[in-house]
Amino acid sequence: MKATAIAPANIAFIKYWGKKDEALRLPLNSSISMNLSNAYTTTTVEFSKAFPQDTINVASDTSFTTFTHVLKNSELRIIAHLDRMRKLKGTDMRARVVTKNSFPAGAGIASSASGFAALTVAAAAALDLSVSEKELSILARLGSGSACRSIPDGFVMWEEGNSSETSYAHSLYPPGHWDLRDIVAVVQSKPKEVGSTSGMEAARTSPFLEARLAAIPGRIARVKKALEQKDIHALGNVIEEDCLDMHAVMQSQKPPLNYLTDETREIINAVRRWRSGGLAVCFTIDAGPNVHLICEGKDEQVISKKASEISGVQQIIVNKPARGARIVTEHLF
Ligand code: PMV
Repeated sequence: MKATAIAPANIAFIKYWGKKDEALRLPLNSSISMNLSNAYTTTTVEFSKAFPQDTINVASDTSFTTFTHVLKNSELRIIAHLDRMRKLKGTDMRARVVTKNSFPAGAGIASSASGFAALTVAAAAALDLSVSEKELSILARLGSGSACRSIPDGFVMWEEGNSSETSYAHSLYPPGHWDLRDIVAVVQSKPKEVGSTSGMEAARTSPFLEARLAAIPGRIARVKKALEQKDIHALGNVIEEDCLDMHAVMQSQKPPLNYLTDETREIINAVRRWRSGGLAVCFTIDAGPNVHLICEGKDEQVISKKASEISGVQQIIVNKPARGARIVTEHLF
């Protein structure tokens, strides 16, 4: 009754911001992402009749435990997710959960995505539930929207759907399809003040939301074509367009939400300079100040070096496209 899963974080090329159903976490738009090889969560779950209550232990870096409000909130979400899984099995056994991140939590690298994907896959295995990849993706989505994209392999599309059964992610291409990199320039590693779940509740108050949503189908088609043709320039154009539009929506919500800092803007300007100089690189940014630099494998070294030389960049995390969530045999306890 014990199982361990590992799940990658993912970086969205077309972002998700805003829901049409908050409880079911149905997004306002479909999105496309790439799983990250070097930013992942490992989670061990054990269910037992002998456990009097659920216990959750976040064994990641120590900075996480200092922010108890984040820990408490995530604990409640983990227990709600365990309840969902228990209901499917028809059991009331309590669980022990130990979870560990390979990267700083809460800083715009989607820890909730890898976290809920790993929790879903580990809990399903520990309960011996027979569920398909699609069902795991739906379950993960109920824990955290973007987590549904961390279940399938490689380059992934989340179909928005119009019900819980039709809103799930599937693989577009396996990780080996295109040797891309996501080089994360970390400028801040403490948890953000406003998380994406509460932040996106106000998306509808932005006058720019409708314009962004109207542009999404065209952008999805452009990303699919760029992936098919492995066209880094076409991919870069559409990724930056959608990222900047999402941040325009965030910044024009009421109350406004600004995740970008001076360091973020400095990196954006540097990327534009490098590109004028002939380097094929683009940026994208989630709900935090860290910047994801997307490029091809052949440019990894030169871009990592340039990024690490920018003042304010504390750490560089280099990711290749990765497999989705999977069971591993080594447990955390
Ligand atoms: O599902 P959440 O709460 O992790 O929301 C993710 C939102 C963004 O990271 C900003 C965009 C995205 O699609 O990943």
